[in-house]
Amino acid sequence: MKSIILLGYMGAGKTTIGHALAKDLGVQFYDLDWYIEMRFHKTVAQIFQERGEEGFREIERNMLHEVAEFENVVISCGGGTPCFFDNMDYMNSLCTTIYLKASAEVLSAHLKMGRVVRPLIVGKSEEELTAYIQEMLNTREPFYMKAKHIFDVDLLNSREKVDESVKMLRDATGI
Ligand code: S3P
Repeated sequence: MKSIILLGYMGAGKTTIGHALAKDLGVQFYDLDWYIEMRFHKTVAQIFQERGEEGFREIERNMLHEVAEFENVVISCGGGTPCFFDNMDYMNSLCTTIYLKASAEVLSAHLKMGRVVRPLIVGKSEEELTAYIQEMLNTREPFYMKAKHIFDVDLLNSREKVDESVKMLRDATGI
C-alpha cells in the first residue's frame, strides 16, 4: 500500500481520523507535528518562537521528506504543510493524499474542543477565530484541492462519529 497523507486546515480532524484510520488498516501512524517535536525535542510553539514561521516551515519540509519516504503508513501533516515550497506536489508524487474538508464552523468548534497550543491562533476570540479561519481557507484551499481525494468532515464530537468517518473515508477513497 502507498502511504496515505491526510491534509487540511487546523481542527479538521487530521490527527483524530489519522490515528483511527491507521488502527483500522493495521499500520503505523505518524503525525508530522509530533514527529518534528520528537526529532527536535521542542514543541511546535517553541520552534515558532525561536525561529519564526520561516524557520518552522523549513524544518517542516525537511521532516516531511523523512516521513513521506516511509512505506505503508498513515501520516497527518500540519495545516500549513501543503501550502509551502513544492510540498503538495511532493506529497502527491509519493503518497495517496486526502483533503479533510470542513466548514469554518466545524473547524472552529474542533479547535475550541482541543487543548493543543497552536501558535497561529493563540489569543483569538471566538469571532476573530471564525473570521481568521475563513480568510485562511480562501488562500489555502487552492493547495488543499490538489489532493487526490477530497473527503467532507462533519463535527467529530464522539468516538462513534470518528469510527463512522473512517468507514466512510475508506469507502469513498477505496483504501
Ligand atoms: C499550522 C498548523 C499546525 C502546526 C503549526 C502551523 C498551520 O498543525 O503545524 O502550528 O499553519 O496551519 P495542525 O494543523 O496539526 O494543528
